Amino acid sequence: MIVSIVDLSRHVGQTVTLQGWLYHRRDSGKLVFLVVRDGTGLCQCVVARGPDTDSFFEDCRRLGQESSLRVTGVVRADPKQVGGHELTVTHVEIVQNAENYPITPKPHGIDFLFRHRHLHFRSRRQWHILRVRHTLVDEIRGYFNRNGYTLIDTPIFAPSAGEGSQTLFSVDYFGEPVFLAQTGQLYVEAACMAFGKVYCFGPTFRAEKSKTRRHLTEFWMVEPEIAYADLDAVIAVAEDFICSIVQRVLSDHRADLEFLGRDVAALERIRAPFYRITHRQAAEILRGPKARELLERDLAQKSARIAEVQKLIAEKETQAKAGGVKEWQKEKLAADAADLREELADLEVEVQNIPHHMQLAANFDPNGDLGGSDETIISRLHDRPVFVTHYPKGCKAFYMKLNAEDRTRVNNVDLLAPDGYGEIIGGSQREEDLTTLRDRIHEDGLNEADYEWYLDLRRYGTVPHGGFGLGVERTLAWLCGLKHIRETIPYPRMMGKIYP
Ligand code: 4AD
Ligand code: MG
Repeated sequence: MIVSIVDLSRHVGQTVTLQGWLYHRRDSGKLVFLVVRDGTGLCQCVVARGPDTDSFFEDCRRLGQESSLRVTGVVRADPKQVGGHELTVTHVEIVQNAENYPITPKPHGIDFLFRHRHLHFRSRRQWHILRVRHTLVDEIRGYFNRNGYTLIDTPIFAPSAGEGSQTLFSVDYFGEPVFLAQTGQLYVEAACMAFGKVYCFGPTFRAEKSKTRRHLTEFWMVEPEIAYADLDAVIAVAEDFICSIVQRVLSDHRADLEFLGRDVAALERIRAPFYRITHRQAAEILRGPKARELLERDLAQKSARIAEVQKLIAEKETQAKAGGVKEWQKEKLAADAADLREELADLEVEVQNIPHHMQLAANFDPNGDLGGSDETIISRLHDRPVFVTHYPKGCKAFYMKLNAEDRTRVNNVDLLAPDGYGEIIGGSQREEDLTTLRDRIHEDGLNEADYEWYLDLRRYGTVPHGGFGLGVERTLAWLCGLKHIRETIPYPRMMGKIYP
C-alpha cells in the first residue's frame, strides 16, 4: 500500500510503500539508514544486511543524495526519529540513482543556492517556509471569502501607472508601450462600486532598483477595496485580517515555525488593538532619545558580537588543524566556521550602517517619507504592529484622500510589522471628489486622459471608499522570522536575479 509520510501514524505495524527521494544516507556496514522525503515529511528507513535484502543492499549503500526510490517496509513508531516513525525495510526499488547532487550538506554560498533554486527548495528550511506560504495564501483568500468580499481579477497589462511612475516595467504591446501592473487597486475601486466589498490577489511588479532585504521586482499582493469605508474602517479590517492570518499560521504551522527558529511566543502576542500613531508622532519618535538609545545599544551589542564571532572562527580553524581530528569532525567544524563567517559579514554591514541610520532618524524631515531604517526603528520600539497614518501628501500616491483638517496630509495608513520588519500593508481612503482628484493627477504630472475611466467613478455615484494592499512575501518573512525576502517566494525576482 502506497502511503504518504505524513500519514504514517495510521499505519503502525503495517507494511507500506513510500515513494520519494533520498534526503540523507549513512551506513554502519551491516545497516544502511536511508532518510527518505516524499514532499509530506521525512522518514528514516533502515535496511539490514541479510538474505532478504541481498538484491538491493549494496545499491542502497552507494545510493546518491536525491536519488528517487520506492521503499517498502514495516512502520514502527519511534518518537526519537525525525517525523516520529521508522521503516524496517523489506524492499527497495531504485527509480533513479542520482549522482553528484549539487546541494550537499556542506555549506554553500547564498548565490550558489539561488542559482539552484529549482533544487534548493527540496532542502528542509525552504520546504518549511513554502509550506507556511501555502497556508498564508489560503488564509488570505479564506478571510475575504468568509467576510463577504467578491474576488475580482485585475489585469497585469496596465496602460498607466497605479503607484508612481518611477517603478514601472514597460513591455511592448503590439508596438505600443504598456506596463506590468504595480497594483490592481484602480480596477478594484471600480469593482467595489458594483459589488460593495471586493479584493484582487495576484502578482504585481515594481522596477525597484534597490537591492534590499525587503524588495522584490515581482511580488504577490492582496488588495481589498470597500465602498462606504473611511480610514478608520479600513484600519479595522486590516487589524482583524492580520490577527486572523497570525492565528491560522500559529494553529497549522507551529512545528514549521519552531524548525525555522521563530520566536512563536512573540507571534502569540499579536492581538488587537495594534498601536496607532500619526506620521507626525513617528517623526517625533525618530528625532527623539528613544530612537538614538536603541541604535546606540545596537552598535555596542553588535560590535561585541563581532569580536566574539571572530574569536569563535579562529577557534574552529585551530581545532580543525589539530592532529587526530576525524574527517566528519573537520567537515562539521568547516560548516560551523562558514556559518559564523556569514554572520560576521552581516554584522559588519549592519555596524557600518548604524551611524548612517542614526543620522537619518535624528534629522528626519517631518514632511518626508519614512525610509526602511526609520520603519525598522518605529517597529522595534513597539511590541505589536503599528499603524502609521496621515503622511504628507507629497510622498504618497495621487489617489489618496486629502485630510479635511490638514490638506497637506492624506488619510492613509501603513502597517509596520514588529521586530523591525517594517511596512507590510499600505492603504488609504481614496479621494472621491472629482475636482480634487483631477488636480492631484495634474500635480503628479500624470496624463488625465489615461485616467478618464477612473474619473468616471467620481462622476457616477461617487462614495467614500478605501482599501489596502498586503504584500505576501514581506508578511511571510515576518511570520517566519526570516532575514531576507528572497526565501519567501519559490522563484524570487530581484534586480540582477532572474535565473532560473
Ligand atoms: O504600499 P504599496 O505600494 O500600496 C499599493 O500598491 C496600494 N495600491 C495598495 C492599496 O491600497 N490597494 O504596496 C502595498 C504592499 C506593501 O506594504 C508591501 O507589503 C508590498 O505591497 N510591497 C512589496 N513587497 C515586496 N517587494 C516590493 N518591491 C514591494 N513593494 C510593495
Ligand atoms: Mg507603501
